[in-house]
Amino acid sequence: MNRKVSALGRMAALWLTGLLMAVPAWAGDGVIRNGALWPDDGVIRNGALWPDGDGVHVNAHGGGVLWHKGRYYWYGEYKSDSTSNALVGITCYSSKNLTDWRNEGVVLPVVTDDPTSDIARGCIMERPKVIYNVRTGKFVMWFHLELKGQGYSAARSGVAVADRPTGPFRYLRSERPNAGCLPTGWTAEDAARMDTLQAAHYAKWWTPGWRKAVAEGLFVKRDRAGGQMARDMQLFVDTDGRAYHIFASEENLTLHIAELSDDYLSHSGRYVRVAPGGQNEAPAVFRRGDTYWMITSGCTGWAPNEARMFSAPSIWGPWTQHPSPCVGPNAKKTFGAQSTYVLPVEGRDDLFIFMADRWRPEHPSDARYVWLPITFGPDGVPVVEWRESWSLDDFSGR
Ligand code: DGJ
Repeated sequence: MNRKVSALGRMAALWLTGLLMAVPAWAGDGVIRNGALWPDDGVIRNGALWPDGDGVHVNAHGGGVLWHKGRYYWYGEYKSDSTSNALVGITCYSSKNLTDWRNEGVVLPVVTDDPTSDIARGCIMERPKVIYNVRTGKFVMWFHLELKGQGYSAARSGVAVADRPTGPFRYLRSERPNAGCLPTGWTAEDAARMDTLQAAHYAKWWTPGWRKAVAEGLFVKRDRAGGQMARDMQLFVDTDGRAYHIFASEENLTLHIAELSDDYLSHSGRYVRVAPGGQNEAPAVFRRGDTYWMITSGCTGWAPNEARMFSAPSIWGPWTQHPSPCVGPNAKKTFGAQSTYVLPVEGRDDLFIFMADRWRPEHPSDARYVWLPITFGPDGVPVVEWRESWSLDDFSGR
């Protein structure tokens, strides 16, 4: 094609895009639409660019949302254009309506002048979540931390604290949780059985014997002294104010649900293991009535896979696995996305939003968001049905 014509074509396309942005096609309908450009009209559109108040795509990936005193605060990973490593830090956006977001800036920046810092520029900071502690009045952030230059081998949890939801957050430390602790509820026999496991016998993975050993605590034993591995993570505050840190542990084979201390700044030492050897990550936990739900993904790097779902009568379990809650086109791949959080909408009895990331590892900052309402079947089981776009008003009865 003639280069001049193609340049003119590009200019026309840009002009048309600008026009469409300036005259919102969906203005005023309060709908979420997945897959399109997103005018500032109070509507959620899945997979689209999601412009903040400055018209810039929201950069808060692997995130979670905190409601505090009339505003929602969305925290997430700032993704750069060509690397998923942390070059900037953790960002925060705020909103009153969950669709129009104000950029509150970088609330926990990477450290640029000390290469020995845990959070030195170039480390990996993923899936930050923030909870508010009513006893201390502090905002507590936990995130998955990988030390600079060590790939994903460190598998640590970082913790930071702030006086205000918009920070600044003060980085406290990182750790592998629950050093020295055995899972809560383990009997003396369970501990003795674990003690008999010899790592050298299980050098070959995925054999039936290895699977049994994993279930019996092969990696719990290995990491007992130094603390358990912690990668993809979630925080959950129960109605009694107790908080839990849920993370992919044991080489991403087994989830741990670990209770936090009263101030939320450390682990209490009480934890349970969920689906040993099941390879779950991206856990998102919520409670509806007396049932605890957890949506997770499998472990396929940045590529989407089929969501999994679990339920339990108590945060401590027992956790039962259900089929994926996703329904609709590409449901088998979670609509091209991976769970990051389930948001209970404030002031609504029964409205929860499934939040997920459509990763773009070749252009991380251009990753997109998928937010879908969770409905419940007659049996009370969650359903996440695909919608291009939708509005909170569609659920005004809930
Ligand atoms: C999947 C995880 O869910 C992401 O947070 C990230 O750690 C990628 N793996 C890295 O491949």
